[in-house]
Amino acid sequence: QKNITDFPAGFLWGGATAANQIEGAWNIDGKGLSTAEVVQKAQNRKAVSMGDVTQATLAVALADKSDVNYPKRRGIDFYHRYKEDIALFAEMGFKVFRFSIAWTRIFPTGEEKTPNEAGLKFYDDVLAELAKYDIEPLITLSHYEMPIALTQKYNGWAGRQTIAAFNQFTEVVLKRYQGKVKYWLTFNEINTGTWGFHETGAIDKALSEDEQLQIRYQALHHQFVASAIATKQLREIDPTAKMGCMLARMQTYPGTPNPVDVRAAQFENEKNFFFTDVQARGEYPNYMNRYFNEHNIIIDMAQDDETVIATYPVDFISFSYYMTNITKEKMDADAVGNMVVGGRNPYLKESDWGWQIDPIGLRITLNTMWDRYQKPLFIVENGIGALDKLDNGKIHDEYRIDYLRQHIEQMREAIVDGVDLMGYTMWGPIDLISFSTSEMSKRYGFIYVDQDDDGQGSLKRIRKDSFYWYKKVIATNGKEL
Ligand code: BG6
Repeated sequence: QKNITDFPAGFLWGGATAANQIEGAWNIDGKGLSTAEVVQKAQNRKAVSMGDVTQATLAVALADKSDVNYPKRRGIDFYHRYKEDIALFAEMGFKVFRFSIAWTRIFPTGEEKTPNEAGLKFYDDVLAELAKYDIEPLITLSHYEMPIALTQKYNGWAGRQTIAAFNQFTEVVLKRYQGKVKYWLTFNEINTGTWGFHETGAIDKALSEDEQLQIRYQALHHQFVASAIATKQLREIDPTAKMGCMLARMQTYPGTPNPVDVRAAQFENEKNFFFTDVQARGEYPNYMNRYFNEHNIIIDMAQDDETVIATYPVDFISFSYYMTNITKEKMDADAVGNMVVGGRNPYLKESDWGWQIDPIGLRITLNTMWDRYQKPLFIVENGIGALDKLDNGKIHDEYRIDYLRQHIEQMREAIVDGVDLMGYTMWGPIDLISFSTSEMSKRYGFIYVDQDDDGQGSLKRIRKDSFYWYKKVIATNGKEL
């Protein structure tokens, strides 16, 4: 009889980032322009800027060669400061560091015949630095960006040609870093990626909702195929390494016990699990085939697509967890809760950005996903974006410690329930550019970065109170929270 009482030995504690939110150095060493680098800062804090790129704003962005209006061009200069940053992660005792490879550093327009050596060399150097401290890399192959050239030629993932371009890139990096990386992820938050400009180009808003859905689900299908091909490549290149998928997990609760609302919530959860159902179980679930029929969506598949998806499911399932939602069969008009559509839950508090905080929801998520898939799980993002204040050179961020403590407590509960959880990479261990709003002032980190929303500041790194707290959490393998 197993008696699990705590975090297992070897639990992978660490932090997670993405190339376009930290690296900067957008136009040097042969790098091509990525979709993230034409996105301006959101006009207000609760707006989302990723989807705002239109043909008109794109033309302005392409003509603009500075980083003033495009925060993801400057990041936090990790490209030149990675040694200092990794040393700080090591000081906290990180066992794992999640980052992504910028496709445009390796293939600037996506379709060159040979890769850009300077780009490959940068990640060699990052990996060597991590190895120095025994920090395992966890690499995302595609994190919310792609060569802009591919969106111009093929509408990004909407075009089937993008599969070949992507798998040329994945083959190169899987081979180059073979033996140095045990854990890979294909697409970050695959359920949201094709919903934005960053992966599907600017979709004509004049199209009907179903026509837009058609484009997005077709683009997604191409990602499913590309993800399975990358998994096949990894099996051949390094059979000991593991490939994971990555979902923005959005647990939806029924707004009332009325069975019609319970059913509405069940369907919302199915629509969220659809992505991992395909990537972990290897086939399209029938509830989605039915949804496609009802919305006149026809997925154009090549002959081998279903076989490759069925033959190369992922080894483990990773996900981000920030919030939960509620839904009803008929939503009240004023009930919009989080930044995504969903009702406000009266039992929960929210962050400064209106994201509702729900630690118990994390245990519910973990137990539900383990029951559904029986594959190892990995929490690769979780955290709170907050406005930090410098106080005599220090940042007293007890709100961040509280948030993380409560979530880690629930992780432990799930582990004791029997969930196989590989690790936890908290989002943004060092302050970085926000994905959704491109602000700098939405800070997640244990490490403060002296830069404001306009890019002003010394870029100096400062340890926050939470830095020392997380160090203790890791040192005691989660015993002292
Ligand atoms: C996830 C993304 O959606 O959430 C990250 O994978 C992102 O890229 C994170 O940064 C937090 O979102 P935001 O908008 O607060 O940066």
